Amino acid sequence: MSAKLWAGRFSKDTSKSVNDYNSSIAFDCRMYEQDIRGSLAHAAMLQRAGILSDTEVAAIREGLQSILAALNTGQLEFDPEAEDIHMFIEAELSERIGTPGKKLHTARSRNDQVATDLRLYLRDEAEEIKQLLVNLTSVLLDLAELHTETIMPGYTHMQRAQPITLAHHLLAYVEMFLRDLGRLADWRARMNYNPLGAGALATSTYAVDRFYTTELLGFTAPCRNSLDAVSDRDYAIELGFGLSMVMMHLSRLSEEIILWSSQEFRFIELDDAYATGSSMMPQKKNPDVAELTRGKTSRVFGSLMTLLTMMKNLPLAYNKDMQEDKEAVFDAVDTIKLCLPAFTGMMETLTVKKDRMRAAAAGGFTNATDLADYFVRKGLPFRDAHHVAGELVHFAITQNCSLEALSLEQYRGFFPGTEADIYEAISLEKCVAAREVFGGPAADRTSEAATACRHELAKFM
Ligand code: ARG
Repeated sequence: MSAKLWAGRFSKDTSKSVNDYNSSIAFDCRMYEQDIRGSLAHAAMLQRAGILSDTEVAAIREGLQSILAALNTGQLEFDPEAEDIHMFIEAELSERIGTPGKKLHTARSRNDQVATDLRLYLRDEAEEIKQLLVNLTSVLLDLAELHTETIMPGYTHMQRAQPITLAHHLLAYVEMFLRDLGRLADWRARMNYNPLGAGALATSTYAVDRFYTTELLGFTAPCRNSLDAVSDRDYAIELGFGLSMVMMHLSRLSEEIILWSSQEFRFIELDDAYATGSSMMPQKKNPDVAELTRGKTSRVFGSLMTLLTMMKNLPLAYNKDMQEDKEAVFDAVDTIKLCLPAFTGMMETLTVKKDRMRAAAAGGFTNATDLADYFVRKGLPFRDAHHVAGELVHFAITQNCSLEALSLEQYRGFFPGTEADIYEAISLEKCVAAREVFGGPAADRTSEAATACRHELAKFM
């Protein structure tokens, strides 16, 4: 174990168990690029402020760049004994360039350093997640546009309710993912502030230029309060929440995919490349991608809960508890980045069984509301019309047939004012087409909605 950079005040080495316990390099090593980016900005600022000389900063810059290259190519490995990524890179720098390396940490603490690194890292990751979410939303839009006339049952209480189209159903998910994208954009606007220069908690006595590092690192402005800058983890929690919402939406769609691909529904068939088999039952084709997404949703919720609970009783400013933020938020990020490509591929390749969807819509009296509305047009108050239509459903059940299969005579037995136009009024196509209210399932409305969604999606690209 190399000597601690803070060993001056101590008369003993750290015990091995404490060193292992304390160390975060096993998981924070993934922020090395951001750590170096932050250090390069800090060094440039020290130079401009006249705190370090041009030659010192030139050496620091070269040293950091050589470390970055060595880490990228695997020539340099992380030292598992190091306390964290910040200490590792600083120690490595001093080893490579000597004295100037030991000056890099002037006017900086690991508290503002780690806060900067984490913001930069999560900002980068969120950008990738945004792209993946845009891809999924665009696949759902493509599918919706192909199915503006594909009739299926809409459900409430998991009971067949009214006929809709697959486009209408999928566009509901498009709305959810557009909101998720909006949430990520809001998050970025709120989190993009620079903690660097806050020092351990109270800035420093050097004339550091926090506005300059802000500019170099692409932040909007420096964090206004140095205590808040080093003790805030709202951005990790908010990202945990934003990703939990995405997962919750994916999980609901997963549930539908699982149901729809069952033999009971057979509304869709998953592509062989996106389904899995059983080691024992030769006939099985399992929707593992959807099931795993549903399962992994709980992991992401768990990360959010970890982050919230970790922060709830921390006094200002930095506390070591906060090192626990990383594994939680990293796991949420990793999980969603694993889910989205597989899920998008599954949606892109599935086959829609239009005939099965239509048959299900035809089989469940989903046009009963339209029947009641027909009686209303023929003069009955809605409540009475609802009652008559209910009697007719009951009668059709006893006859084991659909509403369309009842004769005009039979209809007249329940409501004498029934005419031959009843059959058109309760045809599934008519039921869908007649719902041409804004937001409804009629093909014109869903085509317009899909176009509007595409415009909104383009804003995130
Ligand atoms: N590894 C630490 C973390 O992730 C870095 C900050 C440590 N600061 C300190 N004063 N011990 O939170």
